[in-house]
Amino acid sequence: MLSVKRRKLLDVFRAAEGGLVSGQELAGALNCSRTAVWKQIEELKKAGFEIDAKRGSGYAIRPTEDAFAEDILYFHAKTKFIGQQVAFYPDVTSTQIIAHQLVGEGAPSGTVIVADQQTAGKGRLARPWNSQKGTGIWMSTILRPEIPMQQVPQFTFIASLAIAEAIENVTGLEPQIKWPNDLYIDKRKVCGVLTEMQAEAEQVHAVIIGTGINVNQDAFPEELREKATSLAILAGHPISRGALYGEIVGQLEKYYELFLNQGFAPIKLLWEARAIPFSEKIIAKTLKGEIRGTVKGISDEGVLIVQDAVGEEHAIFSADILLG
Ligand code: BTN
Repeated sequence: MLSVKRRKLLDVFRAAEGGLVSGQELAGALNCSRTAVWKQIEELKKAGFEIDAKRGSGYAIRPTEDAFAEDILYFHAKTKFIGQQVAFYPDVTSTQIIAHQLVGEGAPSGTVIVADQQTAGKGRLARPWNSQKGTGIWMSTILRPEIPMQQVPQFTFIASLAIAEAIENVTGLEPQIKWPNDLYIDKRKVCGVLTEMQAEAEQVHAVIIGTGINVNQDAFPEELREKATSLAILAGHPISRGALYGEIVGQLEKYYELFLNQGFAPIKLLWEARAIPFSEKIIAKTLKGEIRGTVKGISDEGVLIVQDAVGEEHAIFSADILLG
């Protein structure tokens, strides 16, 4: 995690919104000499910031498009608490595993763990999650809401809604959500959400929202080619992962606060507006077998309601959904 001094330095530049900050102001904020400030600025250059140094006026900093490191992520997180504690790993087994450890160590609500590569990325239903180096946003967010356990699945809806909106704001692409956790564009998956929790008896200690976003891959392994795509392939140009990350933590905080203040009802409405149209026929592959039918909606708990050919309604808690 970032040192206190580094956070203070980045806070000053964040508040300046790209404008110049004098060496004197920085020295005052950090309580150090101008020479020490200059050393810190050199560190920022190494971390991926472009520095504009004007003799006599001060410094301005800007994150480079493709930089993805702890300082860059902190700088992009213009939030109250989500992302204000961030841990970045160039290479890790799974950000979910780290998040579970940090929950045990008392990490505060809003802590985010981000990796540039995962060697054991986890998907839903214990499937592996392809997490190639330097291509995606592989992140886990720790939240500590005071809610009963049955409400935890609602966080998959909060997250998929927030990420869909963030992707649209940054790229102009319009993801659709496939129940419960997938974001699709042009019939291919660009993002998956894995919601886990730590709880004891009925008490939820933490919700851990794992999100994998395919951002800058230019190709996928054979077995994923038909199913997955990336934002860069769709947009026709690379996307800044740092800028997208900043938008994601902002949207996540906005919808989490909406949930805390007004409950699941407004989230459900907004989620439905972005869902793959409910009129479509689907096949739900559950552990107990297949259910074919039409989606009638989601319940207040986020359960999928499917009506089959003879009009019977089925409540689906967990399944793979095939369209068609
Ligand atoms: C799915 O669609 O199956 C969910 C995929 C979730 C992948 C993310 S990547 C970051 C976090 N760490 C993991 O190991 N998994 C989640």
